[in-house]
Amino acid sequence: MSEATGTLSAEARVRIDREVAKYPADQKQSAVMAALAIAQHENGWLSTPLMDEVATHLGMPSVAVYEVATFYTMYDLKPLGRHKLCICTNLPCALSGALEAAAHLKKKLGVGFGETTADGRFTLKEGECFGACGDSPVLLHNDRKMLIGMTPDKLDALIAELAK
Ligand code: FES
Repeated sequence: MSEATGTLSAEARVRIDREVAKYPADQKQSAVMAALAIAQHENGWLSTPLMDEVATHLGMPSVAVYEVATFYTMYDLKPLGRHKLCICTNLPCALSGALEAAAHLKKKLGVGFGETTADGRFTLKEGECFGACGDSPVLLHNDRKMLIGMTPDKLDALIAELAK
């Protein structure tokens, strides 16, 4: 993940405009969640200048963009480690081993939720339901890859693989 504060690339603007086109012309701001996801995916995290660019691009007040970005846990407002590991701890998952898995990850990585390992490799986050409750513990890697049934053994194997 990037350390830069970032600016929206031309490519990202094209992708955002594709999202904007899904809504009526006077409802550009409806694409704000998709636009933030695109900006975050490109930059690694959402800096204030980057959110301001999204706001300008969508013709909406910056504060309205900040409200969205700070409300949803999937957006990152500070630089992350190379691997973002987000584990769901909502009730269905919590009842099926997610809390034990989260505790295992914290101990293994030596960090708490919202923290990054000293070597900059891993950031651990607590997630909200990913819609895969029957496959707990569920982990999302770098916002893109969902991993299911993440028992401590499988977590150990994942960390070993990602640490290479
Ligand atoms: S509660 Fe964890 S994926 Fe739904």
